[in-house]
Amino acid sequence: MRKKVILYKAIPLQERKRLDEIFDVTYFDSIDDSNRDAFFTALAETDGIIGSSVEMSSNVLNKAPRLKAASTISVGTDQYDLDYLAKRNIPLMHTPDILNETTADTIFTLIMCTARRAIELSNMVREGRWIKSIGEEQYGTDVHGKTLGIIGMGRIGYAIAKRAHFGFNMPIHYSNRSQNEVAENDLNATYMNMETLLKTSDFICVMAPLTAQTKHLIGEKEFALMKESAIFINGSRGKVIDESALIDALTRGSIRAAGLDVFDIEPLPANSPLCKLDNAVLFPHIGSATAETRLNMVACAVDNLIRALNGDLSKNCANKHLFNR
Ligand code: DGY
Repeated sequence: MRKKVILYKAIPLQERKRLDEIFDVTYFDSIDDSNRDAFFTALAETDGIIGSSVEMSSNVLNKAPRLKAASTISVGTDQYDLDYLAKRNIPLMHTPDILNETTADTIFTLIMCTARRAIELSNMVREGRWIKSIGEEQYGTDVHGKTLGIIGMGRIGYAIAKRAHFGFNMPIHYSNRSQNEVAENDLNATYMNMETLLKTSDFICVMAPLTAQTKHLIGEKEFALMKESAIFINGSRGKVIDESALIDALTRGSIRAAGLDVFDIEPLPANSPLCKLDNAVLFPHIGSATAETRLNMVACAVDNLIRALNGDLSKNCANKHLFNR
């Protein structure tokens, strides 16, 4: 008998067809109040789920007694409770590696836009406020040669550091759970504790995944340690920082600017104080959002689900290390 699968995200037709060829697929283009009951009904029967951007708490997944595999179309796994899934022996598959370079490009865009005030000055031109040759009130700050501090030197952190080192001649500081010898050897990166990194870096880029340990990793105390000229970048998850402490630091000018791809609440409410700050560059969570990379991620997630439902967890299983604990 064909296995039952729930797809809870709109994906390109060719990838939907691949699922349809193998499984009985119940499709939702996302989950909201209008279809939640139908989603819960489908969960009762399903063997697998695939999608992204919907929180799959243990309360929700308790409604799926037959569930054998979950596949998220993301590298981040924070929409799922990995321990809960492991206790039920359910693998969570994810999409590492294929988005590293694209996400590093996005982070560099944030670095450049904040340093050179690109959005603010572009708005000045569009709004007819460019009435004379610009003066020092509009000057930006250099990126090349400045020190980049990376908190979370994983796969994406490394891709950012590579651009900074080879393209912009930037000394790299990093803090991480463990030392990254490849980054040290290839990019001359220096490992240090977070406090030293915050005090000594010109650009501070957070790339640590959201876990119980990293929630509000950067708050009032950490912003106070940064230089007044520091530019803060968050490309990980909104909850890794205390957003109100950041708003306070930007408003008071205790740091220079921030570039954010992720927020505490997404989509960011239009009445957020961040939307009023010229020294904040705000992206709508587009780290991996190019046509090529998003398609590759969907294809990878479909492959992952097919393999996992065949019992093959040799690649891209995010919670295998938690099984049988
Ligand atoms: C990821 O893959 O985790 C990106 O942040 C998109 O959600």
